[in-house]
Amino acid sequence: MMKTLVVKHANSPTSYPIFIEQGLLKNLFWLPKHIQQIVIITDNKVKKLYAQNLLKSLQKTKKKVLLLSFPSGEKAKNYQMKHKLEQKILSKHFDRDAFILALGGGVVGDIAGFIAATYMRGISYIQIPTTLLAMVDSSIGGKTSINTSLGKNLIGAFWHPSSVIIDLHCLKTLPQKHLINGLIEALKIFIIYDKNSFQFFEKNIHDILNGEAASHQIIFSAIRLKSQIVTQDEREKHLRSILNFGHTIGHALETLSNYRLLHGIAVGYGILVESKISEILGMLSRADYFKISQLLMKLGIHPKKLKTFNLQKIIALTQLDKKAKEEKAKYVLLKKIGKIHHKSKQFAFDVPNKVIEHAFFAVSEMTNAGK
Ligand code: GLY
Repeated sequence: MMKTLVVKHANSPTSYPIFIEQGLLKNLFWLPKHIQQIVIITDNKVKKLYAQNLLKSLQKTKKKVLLLSFPSGEKAKNYQMKHKLEQKILSKHFDRDAFILALGGGVVGDIAGFIAATYMRGISYIQIPTTLLAMVDSSIGGKTSINTSLGKNLIGAFWHPSSVIIDLHCLKTLPQKHLINGLIEALKIFIIYDKNSFQFFEKNIHDILNGEAASHQIIFSAIRLKSQIVTQDEREKHLRSILNFGHTIGHALETLSNYRLLHGIAVGYGILVESKISEILGMLSRADYFKISQLLMKLGIHPKKLKTFNLQKIIALTQLDKKAKEEKAKYVLLKKIGKIHHKSKQFAFDVPNKVIEHAFFAVSEMTNAGK
């Protein structure tokens, strides 16, 4: 049965629906009737899987449609690619009434959303996430961006989609490592905001990895929680920054791996280190750290892998992160599972390098028993 959530930002007129159901790419009820010009932006993998069929369905409606695709992967999310795609759209004379359909994973959503934000000073777009990571995180909340050689997502804009279409059927073609990539972002939301969902994840990990019903429940809970957080803080001035838990270290690892490490996997390692920092600072209990690390290990996050990274390079990159202030990296810290540490409206904090070093070595020396 179709589930619908509405993202309604506090103190702002912005509001848009999220539709969740199997088969939404076949039933185009969500496409506003008045749209006459459509640009589908996708990557080369999703083009074959879904975009060509979507193009055919749209062509039957006699609308003007353009399908653009680019190589899949985070490396394509750059200035040059944005420019190339924009030139193609301009050369086909799409005007400011055009609509973009961002069909794909987080990379497609980010670059297509950023094109929508700037094309003719801003046009409408619809997020159609096809990966679990994009469904539970990047398609919701209006963040759009590209990467630069100095770091991830450093250039971008807040630009909200007019709707988010989640066709759960797309998960059937998703490779296991991409499923885990998305599950880690869902788990992150539970760790920072909802103990009950964390416990559900813990109890049902086997079914989540293998069966549909449990994973659908996880997806719905993660989307509901993410929507609740972003609606309270549209532009990440306070509460929304808790979504960056695991990301200060995670983004640095992703950049250092030259994007060979998938985003969610990098965030998994980031969660391990940042939970350990919280434990060392006396905020998080050892028991909660143990539960988090055990669950991550079941998802294939093996602490020893951290040894392959140079900690000083990680620390240097965290200072360039867009969450950094005056070149000081900021960390979201955990109080217990389901609750982050905050001081009135401050949700991210400086951490001395010594504590980061201690946490990093403690995690990378950790055995599978999690000690
Ligand atoms: N992905 C974090 C956020 O949307 O704020």
